[in-house]
Amino acid sequence: MELSLLQQKFNIVFGKESESSFFAPGRVNLIGEHIDYNGGLVFPCAITLGTYAAASKRHDNKFRVFSMNFENLGIIEFSLDDLTYQKEHNWCNYLKGVLKYLLEAGYKVPSGLDLLFFGNIPNGAGLSSSASLEMLMCKICTDLYGLSLSSTEAALLGKKVENEYIGVNSGIMDQFAIALGKANHALLLDCNTTEYQHVPFEIEGYSIIIMNTNKRRELADSKYNERRSECESALSKLQNAFDIKALCDLKEEDLTKAADIINHPIEFKRVKHAVTENIRVIDATKALENNDLFTFGKLLNASHISLKDDYEVTGKELDTLVAAAWDADGTLGARMTGAGFGGCAIAIVENQKAETFIESVNSKYLKEIGYEASFYIASIGNGPIQLN
Ligand code: GLA
Repeated sequence: MELSLLQQKFNIVFGKESESSFFAPGRVNLIGEHIDYNGGLVFPCAITLGTYAAASKRHDNKFRVFSMNFENLGIIEFSLDDLTYQKEHNWCNYLKGVLKYLLEAGYKVPSGLDLLFFGNIPNGAGLSSSASLEMLMCKICTDLYGLSLSSTEAALLGKKVENEYIGVNSGIMDQFAIALGKANHALLLDCNTTEYQHVPFEIEGYSIIIMNTNKRRELADSKYNERRSECESALSKLQNAFDIKALCDLKEEDLTKAADIINHPIEFKRVKHAVTENIRVIDATKALENNDLFTFGKLLNASHISLKDDYEVTGKELDTLVAAAWDADGTLGARMTGAGFGGCAIAIVENQKAETFIESVNSKYLKEIGYEASFYIASIGNGPIQLN
């Protein structure tokens, strides 16, 4: 996105110059799926696709907001004096949620803003466009109002917006991955303690290719919540026998005993995924440290199989894409990323094979599914920044 285009558009929409511009990334998760809410380790990274905003302070309490992605909605207006959720405020409810919880946390928001947004994260692709928007709004407020909000606080505030304001029962991974993004690094995050470590992720000669199923994720939220309650139910049974706070605390050698205690084949499969996925994250980061890319790739593949067979969150589109990626020449590993049920998968592919990879995966996908997938070469970028 050209900054000058954003500024020009701001000028046209609001009839004045913007004061400053900002950017917040989206994210992909490399490995550690559906275990942030099970107290596991996750290994995501911020990407250079994301959300831009141009902003200018106002002298009253109003927020006037325009998105270049939803031009038909025109300017959406709300006030600091009423930050209750309102359906007609559409995607701006994410901004209102951020403001509400900033105020509740005791931060001063002295005036409103004129805001223009543009996002280049493909819509509904599971690359965390909503967390990107929340972290962008936190960054805008932090910089323009001089707040002392840390990245970790911003991430926790964004999660609260999702859980309590929007009503999506998501975990902590997306906001952390974005708020703490660092170019050429992935984030190893312990979701039990929120302790984290940036791990260099420069695998020479290879690219991360994001593969979008282009499947709408209608069922995603209800299935997501269903998985969460299956895990909660299994955890409460297991806590009668094991001293554990979360499913990922369970040891692999205790799985057989756990199966008897849970006494519910579906719930047991969810637990098996959580426990084995957590181990795969540890093994994957070790493999990276040792520059053992072959093992890293195999762990990505094993993660997908577990999400397909045990956690059952893939579906025909993701499975077709990933199987085609496994078959393609030059692939180190491939798996779905994010919540699943559509959305995106990732593949780590030899740079020189990227073009033929895309051709062969897309043609198999088209043949099987009846429409095309989309492909993006991802670069690992920084967290939210002020651009000018
Ligand atoms: C979504 C949620 C995250 C996480 C992933 C699955 O992206 O927002 O908290 O649970 O799904 O790993």
